[in-house]
Amino acid sequence: MAVEHPRFARVYPAVAARADKRGAAGHRQRLVEGLAGRVVEVGAGNGRNFVHYPPGVTEVVAIEPEPTLRALAEGAETAVPVRVLDGVAEALPFADGELDAAVVSLVLCSVPDQGRALAEIRRVLRPGGALRFYEHVIPQRQPKRGLFRAADATGLWPRLAAGCHLARDTAGAIVAAGFEIERCERIEFRSAAVEPRLSYLLGSAHR
Ligand SMILES: C[S@@+](CC[C@H](N)C(=O)[O-])C[C@H]1O[C@@H](n2cnc3c(N)ncnc32)[C@H](O)[C@@H]1O
Repeated sequence: MAVEHPRFARVYPAVAARADKRGAAGHRQRLVEGLAGRVVEVGAGNGRNFVHYPPGVTEVVAIEPEPTLRALAEGAETAVPVRVLDGVAEALPFADGELDAAVVSLVLCSVPDQGRALAEIRRVLRPGGALRFYEHVIPQRQPKRGLFRAADATGLWPRLAAGCHLARDTAGAIVAAGFEIERCERIEFRSAAVEPRLSYLLGSAHR
């Protein structure tokens, strides 16, 4: 099941740490606030969200296919019990309706098929279970909208950034998968001084 992206895995921890210093840590904290019960975090990377889970969360099962990032996640600081497993969004190791919540951050830009991943996440949530998301999405305005679409279409950015797409309509995909969005904030955020400002969605939906 391994999805190896050694170059990306080498640089991502520093990129994520820098983004957290510039404000992403606050976004991560709001991503998981108020959650309770058993939670799956899909595509957990090196575990930057783990310190933010509130005490009502009894267990986080963190799924991460990239071996270097998964090893780092296994050693990451945690606020609640966290179990890190190899796996992918499209085939989660849970029974139907087993979990109270799912968390995705900066992952739905990279999964090969958003519809498949979201259908699988919905399957493992109990009725009413929460999907929390923090994802960068297609910008609302030109010229970035067109430029980002072109970067995806040429395959240039996905090749450089381990399959990441800049121009996905992730809120649309969440609704199309059958979730009801109750909260969705758009944040314009530059995660590093040299990077373009990206549009992020931070929100909550339920099954
Ligand atoms: C930009 S990183 C984000 C990591 C982490 N969620 C965070 O917020 O820092 C994207 C992550 O998605 C993971 N990923 C890519 N494809 C995946 C898939 N099909 N299923 C689960 N995770 C996947 C990558 O291995 C990587 O850890």
